[in-house]
Amino acid sequence: MDFFDVIRTQRAMRRLKPDPVSDEDLWTILDAAIHAPSGGNTQGWNFVVIRDRAVKEKIGAWYLEAWDRAYGPRRDAMLEDAQAGRMFRSADYLANHLADVPALILATLQNRTGFGADVSHGASIYPAVQNLMLAARALGLGTTLTTLHRLHEQDVRELLGIPADVDTMALIPVGHPRGRFGEPQRVPAEKVTYWDRWGERKTRGG
Ligand SMILES: Cc1cc2nc3c(=O)[nH]c(=O)nc-3n(C[C@H](O)[C@H](O)[C@H](O)COP(=O)(O)O)c2cc1C
Repeated sequence: MDFFDVIRTQRAMRRLKPDPVSDEDLWTILDAAIHAPSGGNTQGWNFVVIRDRAVKEKIGAWYLEAWDRAYGPRRDAMLEDAQAGRMFRSADYLANHLADVPALILATLQNRTGFGADVSHGASIYPAVQNLMLAARALGLGTTLTTLHRLHEQDVRELLGIPADVDTMALIPVGHPRGRFGEPQRVPAEKVTYWDRWGERKTRGG
């Protein structure tokens, strides 16, 4: 695939088939992840690939509880709006089918690198997560960056034997999508970019 087509069509794909994802594809996307930058090149990441059904069911139950707690009260308001409603329905589908996703990848980060307290902590893992999701898209695999498991972080940590100095930063379901990728809706670059001074816009080609 063309590099820019991969970027344009990478989006949250939450309706995934239960069909297995090969080890080879998983290694390809993990190799993409570890080529990302990290503060001081500390590479404090680890990835836990979860395919065990019993483990996925436990995490799925915590995820669903977190989803209901966080978004249940907003359900009716979101469903009234076309765009928010689409997101709600797809996120609700994922929350109710997490155990059926063939592979969950938990992206973790050591928090003892000296970068723990400020913005560069997240900035030392999310480029890797984005690389992973772009590589998955290039292979035709759907992913979503999710964080709701963090409402049960201690449970997840104990279940997977994750040490206390490691943070769980994102849980990424990976699978073959049921639908097509399509291009997500975004505010155009012209509307969010200023030139030389805050507020100074430029028309493309102008
Ligand atoms: C920091 C962060 C946390 C997110 N957490 C979740 C989550 O827990 N569950 C989920 O279904 N989507 C989650 N998302 C996905 C966003 O909802 C999604 O990227 C956004 O709606 C854009 O979707 P689109 O690319 O399909 O337009 C998260 C995204 C980010 C960047």
